[in-house]
Amino acid sequence: MFHPFQVEQFLSEYEQDVEYHVAESGVHPMTLSELLEIAGMEPDGLGDVLLNYPEVNGTLALRQNIAALYEGATPDNVLVTVGASEANHVVSSALLEPGDEVVAFRPTYQQLPGNAANLGVQVETVGMTEENHWAIDTSELEARVSDKTKFIHVVNPNNPTGHILDEGERSAIIRCAEKSGAWIVADEVYAGTEREQNHETPGFWGDYDRVIAINSMSKAYGLPGLRLGWVVAPEEQITAFWRRHEYVNISATMLGMVLAEKALSAEVRPKIIERSRRLIRVGFDNLREGLGVHPGVFSVVPPQASAMSFVKYDLPVDSLTFGKRLITEKKTVVIPGSCFGMENHFRISSALPEDYLNEALRRINELVADVLSGR
Ligand SMILES: Cc1ncc(COP(=O)(O)O)c(C=O)c1O
Repeated sequence: MFHPFQVEQFLSEYEQDVEYHVAESGVHPMTLSELLEIAGMEPDGLGDVLLNYPEVNGTLALRQNIAALYEGATPDNVLVTVGASEANHVVSSALLEPGDEVVAFRPTYQQLPGNAANLGVQVETVGMTEENHWAIDTSELEARVSDKTKFIHVVNPNNPTGHILDEGERSAIIRCAEKSGAWIVADEVYAGTEREQNHETPGFWGDYDRVIAINSMSKAYGLPGLRLGWVVAPEEQITAFWRRHEYVNISATMLGMVLAEKALSAEVRPKIIERSRRLIRVGFDNLREGLGVHPGVFSVVPPQASAMSFVKYDLPVDSLTFGKRLITEKKTVVIPGSCFGMENHFRISSALPEDYLNEALRRINELVADVLSGR
């Protein structure tokens, strides 16, 4: 049985005809000029870039900048991919075999567990508890991990809740992986988007020897259009992923690599992270205010990181109907909770220009008024 990628399916089917798109999960993207200015690059310099195939596994200069973000890693531990999406794809296709199991959390970004299910692999789900600020249920985790578990999939900080694993949760995950010999596949695309703290979410690399770390330019850096991501892993696994990468895409793009190399340099990276955090912090304050217009309808566990919130609502309407009505009646799109397997929620992004976000919130509140008055 094929399991569709629910968030992406919802967006591709319904997002075309909207005026306010608050369904994305990254910070408001940068223009090329903005990036060049932050990076101190002359636009003319780009004219000399040869638009040839780059090194298939990523240019050495880019892999060096990526490796520098992971203690003890070298460029040989890095494979550059077309976004974290391709990284998720090559990791699942290289690691998973019939009879394996995968452990994933709920709610989460569905791509990797979805890939696993589509390969016929059993996916065991562990809940994150809203009443407990979206903490993972560690006793359920212990019960779900077995000798068959090929990897534990972690999105940290989490999409859609923005939850950052604390020390206790991290050590429970490592302890369970160690006990069963499982890999930890850590999708860390939201590291750097911290809202409540200034230190970056620590990655899993270096804390356990079977870690595969995935990241990309799309979320914390506001550069999804570069279509550039990466995997960091032990060399043997990098080789296995590289062989799959050759089949899928050959390589990421030359321009993407040139620009990502600059963006990830020690001088430029902190400036980009600062821009993202500014948008995230102001955006969430606006969101919180907008959600207070109809008291008692919305509640949200403030995300510790990420550019989005997973909002709970108390209205007599299911999340898919709410999402579809918002599109057709108010030309505004959010992601229904049902796409994450959770009713009476929606995911909304708020790291957006203030006027844009506020108008989207006004339209959401208009729909709430309609629903409350029985329309
Ligand atoms: C947790 C997570 N991982 C991976 C991706 C894919 O990102 P990209 O392919 O743009 O790097 C996304 C995009 O929404 C995401 O939220």
